[in-house]
Amino acid sequence: MRSLIDVVDFSVEEINELIKTALDIQKNPDMYSESCKGKLLATLFFEPSTRTRLSFETAMLRLGGSVIGFSSASSSSASKGESVADTAKVISEYADIIAMRHYKEGAPLVASENASIPVINAGDGGHCHPTQTLADLLTIYRRHGRFDDITVGFCGDLKFGRTVHSLISALSRYKGVKIVLISPKELKLPEYVIKNVIEKSGLSYVETDSLEEYMSELDVLYMTRVQGERFEDKAEYERLKDSYILTPDKIVTAKSDMTIMHPLPRVNELSVKIDTDSRACYFMQVESGKLMRMALIIKLLKEAKDKNPERRLLNPELVADKFKCKNPACITSTEQEIIHYFKEVDGEYHCAYCDAKI
Ligand code: NCD
Repeated sequence: MRSLIDVVDFSVEEINELIKTALDIQKNPDMYSESCKGKLLATLFFEPSTRTRLSFETAMLRLGGSVIGFSSASSSSASKGESVADTAKVISEYADIIAMRHYKEGAPLVASENASIPVINAGDGGHCHPTQTLADLLTIYRRHGRFDDITVGFCGDLKFGRTVHSLISALSRYKGVKIVLISPKELKLPEYVIKNVIEKSGLSYVETDSLEEYMSELDVLYMTRVQGERFEDKAEYERLKDSYILTPDKIVTAKSDMTIMHPLPRVNELSVKIDTDSRACYFMQVESGKLMRMALIIKLLKEAKDKNPERRLLNPELVADKFKCKNPACITSTEQEIIHYFKEVDGEYHCAYCDAKI
């Protein structure tokens, strides 16, 4: 069964197709209003969300389908100790497609390995958020008409910011992309993204703790919130949460067509004074998210007719049960009787669920 767990599960051509469909939906919404008639989406949200869950629900309803689901772990059987694998098997008997958000990294992958319907990763811990990336890519395309030869600055919490990890992964497949990583040293991009994504693809990058240093070179500035909920030390969160605050005076040297993005919700890092600047595109991102989720649901439901699934954990290059993942945020730390799979990257082993190095 085709699922979307990581943005690179789709080829560049498939992403282009989704963008084409999303733009067509925007132009001709009535033509799509019955595309998913009779189909049921289950939104399984084990972690809070406003945009992503309601965006999925809106997408399915606008396609003429229906929605069931829950919006917190406490209102599901997870609170009784049910495994993600069992939840996925049960929901497969009810719905046609699942959108899952979970606080454990790799949980949607476990669900996709156990479901008999497509699973969409709607955010797994601090790991990935591929559908936000689809929204981000459409926004960049609408603004710049291309992905090649752009310079993108990522600012804020690059450590726990899953939207950043997924967008970098998507951008690593285009030519001439340069990325500027702006963060305090405590919130730098995880090593696995640098080694396995950036260095492997040859993406050009620089790291800095200054928001202003590269401002004049950026085509896109992607601001992020410091992810308080993922800090073990709350005092450290308090110390870092206001590391960057984007105000009009910070963008005086920026290009006149720079695109300012933010996956939202914003806390303090993006002043409302920026909202009236023509470069502010974070509400456009919200619209792009709805359109791309509509295109995605159509695609996955169409492909679900193919009963010969490509299962990721059947990849012969993975090694099984040779180590144990030590990342406490990984789904392998709580899921019952799970096989621990690892992939080898340049002689090092990484967990197949959360990408952490062993
Ligand atoms: C993001 C997320 O959930 O990772 N929000 C979203 O889906 N639009 C960003 C965030 O929570 O900071």
